[in-house]
Amino acid sequence: MSFSESQPVPFVDLSLQHQPLQSDILAAMQAVLHQGDYILGQAVADFEQQFATLCQTAYAVGVGSGTDAIALGLQACGIGAGDEVLLPVNTFIATLIGILQVGATPVFVDCEPETALIDLAAAKQAITARTRAIVPVHLYGQMVSPSALLQLAAQHNLIIFEDAAQAHGAEREGYRAGSVGLAAAFSFYPSKNLGAMGDGGIVVTQQSLIAQTVRSLRNYGATRKYVHTDPGGTNSRLDTLQAAVLKAKLPSLTQWNRDRNQLAALYDRRLQSLSAEGIVPIRNDCDAGHVYHLYVVRLLPHCPIDRTVLQLELSRHDIQSGIHYPVPCHLQPAFQSLGYQPGAFPVAEHLSQQILSLPLYPGLTEAQLHRVMDVIAALLAAAKQPYPL
Ligand SMILES: Cc1ncc(COP(=O)(O)O)c(C=O)c1O
Repeated sequence: MSFSESQPVPFVDLSLQHQPLQSDILAAMQAVLHQGDYILGQAVADFEQQFATLCQTAYAVGVGSGTDAIALGLQACGIGAGDEVLLPVNTFIATLIGILQVGATPVFVDCEPETALIDLAAAKQAITARTRAIVPVHLYGQMVSPSALLQLAAQHNLIIFEDAAQAHGAEREGYRAGSVGLAAAFSFYPSKNLGAMGDGGIVVTQQSLIAQTVRSLRNYGATRKYVHTDPGGTNSRLDTLQAAVLKAKLPSLTQWNRDRNQLAALYDRRLQSLSAEGIVPIRNDCDAGHVYHLYVVRLLPHCPIDRTVLQLELSRHDIQSGIHYPVPCHLQPAFQSLGYQPGAFPVAEHLSQQILSLPLYPGLTEAQLHRVMDVIAALLAAAKQPYPL
C-alpha cells in the first residue's frame, strides 16, 4: 500500500500486523472453538511455554491483564502489607495499582532525564529498613541496566520484580526482559509489542514455587479443583482464545521489534539536525536491544516551539501523537493520600512537560515517518523566522 502526502498517520495501526497473519489467527481461534477448552486450555499451556522461552525464564503463567500480573506476581514473591516497594514515579499507573493491590507501601523514585528510566542512585537513597522490593519499569521498551539493578538488590537484600509490560523481547547486557529479577510482569494489551485481541498478561519467573503460587492465585487460590489453599486467590486467567491469538503472533515478534528499532534509528537520524534546536530523542542505552514500544522525544527548554502547538500542527496534518505520561503518578488525584507534593520529583515532573511520543509501529512506512519529521522540521523553521515588521 502506498501512502499519499495527505494520508493520515495514526499513532498505532494494528491492522498492519493482523492482516498478514489473519489466516493463522483465524485458524488458531477456530481450533479453540473446535476444542471448546475456553478456560486454561491447551493454547494457554503452549503459549506459556513459548513465552517463557522468549524471556529465557523457566516458567510463565498467563493471567487476566498486566496489572494482575504485577499484583499476583508480587503476592507470589511474598510482598505484602508492611513492605516498602520502590517504583519509578513516571510509569503507567498500573505499576502503582499492582503494588497497592497487595497492600504494600509504594515508594516513588525519580527518573534519569535522558533515558526516563528509574534513577537507581535515587532509589538507593529511598531505601529504608522496610524496603523489600524494587519494581523497575523497562519504560518505552528499554531495559533498566540489569547489572546495576542486581548490584543494588544484592547490596540491600531487595527483591527485583520487573514491570516489563512495555518490553517484550527487549535485551540489555545479555539479559532478556523478565529474566533479571525474581519474577516479572508483562501485559498483552492490544497495542503492546505483543498484544492480544483484548486484555491479557503473564508472570515469568525462574522459580517453580513462584510459578506454582501464581497458578493457584489466578484460579481462586486452588491447587486442585475445589481445594482452595490460598486465601489471596482470585479469578484472573489468560483466556484460551487470547492465548491462541498470542501464539499465532509470537513468531513475528522478533521481526516486529527489529522493525521498530530500525524505524527509531531513522527518527534518530532525522532528529540529529534538530538537536541544536532542542528536540532530542530519549537516549537509547541498549542499541538493538531496545524494542521501542514507544518512540519518545523531548522538547528541551530552549526549543522554540511549544509542545501543544506541535501536537496541534501534527494533528492538522492528520498525524497522531501522544504523551506517556502527562501526569506523574504522585500527582494523580486518586493518590493524593500517599502524601507526595508537587516538586517532590523534579526530573519526572519536568519530563512530563517535555515529552512527546511519535507514531512508531511495525508497518509504519519510511515515507510516513519522513512526513512526520517534515512537519516538525517545517514548524521549527517557521518558529525561527523573525517576526515581520
Ligand atoms: C508499564 C506498564 N505497566 C503495567 C501495565 C498494565 O497492563 P494492563 O493494561 O494489561 O493491565 C501497562 C500497560 O497498560 C504498562 O504500560
